[in-house]
Amino acid sequence: MTLVSPRLWEQSADWELDDAARDRATAERFRRPTTFGSGGSEPYAQALQSDDNVLYLHGNRADADPGTPTRVSTMHAGRWSAGADAIDRSLLCGVAGPVLDIGCGPGRMIQAAIDEGLDALGVDVSPTAVRIALAAGLAVLQRSVFDYIPLAGTWATLLLVDGNIGIGGDPDALLDRCVSLLCADGVLVVEVHRDPEHDLAYEGTLHDAAGHTSDAFPWAEIGVSALRRRAARVGLVQVAEWTRGGRSFARLARA
Ligand SMILES: C[S@@+](CC[C@H](N)C(=O)[O-])C[C@H]1O[C@@H](n2cnc3c(N)ncnc32)[C@H](O)[C@@H]1O
Repeated sequence: MTLVSPRLWEQSADWELDDAARDRATAERFRRPTTFGSGGSEPYAQALQSDDNVLYLHGNRADADPGTPTRVSTMHAGRWSAGADAIDRSLLCGVAGPVLDIGCGPGRMIQAAIDEGLDALGVDVSPTAVRIALAAGLAVLQRSVFDYIPLAGTWATLLLVDGNIGIGGDPDALLDRCVSLLCADGVLVVEVHRDPEHDLAYEGTLHDAAGHTSDAFPWAEIGVSALRRRAARVGLVQVAEWTRGGRSFARLARA
């Protein structure tokens, strides 16, 4: 029995070509170097696999001596590997599925979404993070958010948690990419810097206490007021903002 007529079959081959061309165009449009904590002696991968996992994010101005970071912040990778806490879980209050966790790490927010009865997928460039998430039985794709993502335009909830608005070092490009992934009435939940006006892009390197150092990668930090201004440029409006346990968040939707 033929389920697909020859004509339709030929046409579907054309559609596939169109899809492939569209995917290439999307990848070109959004392509950015994407290597949070990777390269060098892989401190991010090391931290995900060890108990001693405090990381130091150095921010280097492009024109500064690479040996002298202009700022340093401390990150606890143990939080990424642990289960979601009450604040993490509150981000999912009232949201709909399917949920796409962008830069999901080992996947605590995917598990939290599943616990809420939501369909959820994670996407992350780190092979180690993806391996850990897959071993936990979570649905995760190893790729950049700027590469092909299935179901683009149909995601009801996008998550950018724990500094992930910094991915690619260009919040405008990331917000634009999020718009292309969201469904018409979808929401984007973003963890923001606690200073509302903070708006900083820089070359980051990740370090650990044992001296492991990553290659440089583009990163950014942004507070809620700065996010609101940038979001407006890609047709998003802020529908909520809140602070809990010293962490700040915003929820955005299409204008
Ligand atoms: C600060 S960690 C946050 C991990 C996770 N969101 C959490 O809260 O547990 C940033 C994550 O973003 C991932 N990442 C960086 N660039 C990415 C990209 N272009 N696409 C997808 N993931 C990316 C990194 O591999 C890393 O796992």
